[in-house]
Amino acid sequence: MSDESRPAPADGPSGGPAEARTAAVIPAAGRGVRLGPGAPKALRTLGGTPMLIHAVRALAASRAVSLVVVVAPPDGAVEVKSLLAAHALPERTDFVVVPGGASRQESVRLGLDALPPEYDVVLVHDAARPLVPVDTVDAVIEAVRDGAPAVVPALPPSDTVKEVTPAAAPGAPEPVVATPDRSRLRAVQTPQGFDRQVLARAHAEVTENVTDDASMVEQLGLTVVVVPGHEEAFKVTRPLDLVLAEAVLARRRLNDGF
Ligand code: CTP
Ligand code: MG
Repeated sequence: MSDESRPAPADGPSGGPAEARTAAVIPAAGRGVRLGPGAPKALRTLGGTPMLIHAVRALAASRAVSLVVVVAPPDGAVEVKSLLAAHALPERTDFVVVPGGASRQESVRLGLDALPPEYDVVLVHDAARPLVPVDTVDAVIEAVRDGAPAVVPALPPSDTVKEVTPAAAPGAPEPVVATPDRSRLRAVQTPQGFDRQVLARAHAEVTENVTDDASMVEQLGLTVVVVPGHEEAFKVTRPLDLVLAEAVLARRRLNDGF
């Protein structure tokens, strides 16, 4: 369905046939150590606008998303609230800001704790992936609404990946243990989408440190499915990623102008 002229209901879910209400949790509480010194990563600017605002807009661009929970740097909740107030965001979307924790996992859990009960689909999206296209967001939501308990967008890796025995000292040669068949590997992105009860249970039961939410659901023994990701959903991690993000924004502006 792509009839943009049809008015959306004033409240309740819009943009999808299912009754499920969808919220997004955006962990933005990290420092961004790998990006180098400066403001917390989510507050650094791209094209003059904080990365976090790009990420919030990207999720709120989906008509299905009616609430965005931003998990702010622990001492930055007031600043994040005023940033959200200062930037134009869709009126159909509500916003909540909570302070984050010491790990991404803890930050996501604090965001989940702030979700009102009526939301039954949850997306978790890194603030550090500011340029994810709305079609990717919608594809994840659709797969959850179609019955998958957990959905991750992912792309085939472009490099061959080696498994090694990690060196004790940084920079020392590392023996290769194996070369996994690349056709079976996927590099995962966000937003990751979940049945809300499943994700809440994963965060309550899994204590091991993980770097993504879907792996917690895997540990519950449930099936996680992959849908196609997008190259513009890359994570801003190191300084070169900022250069790429600025270039993607510049290309979008050029294309919008013609
Ligand atoms: N994150 C968070 N709370 C933390 C750590 C990370 O909310 N305690 C968030 C980051 O803000 C980011 C996302 O998790 O949006 C993905 O993490 P990553 O890219 O690793 O960001 P940082 O942890 O900030 O970066 P680094 O690991 O380089 O310090
Ligand atoms: Mg990190």
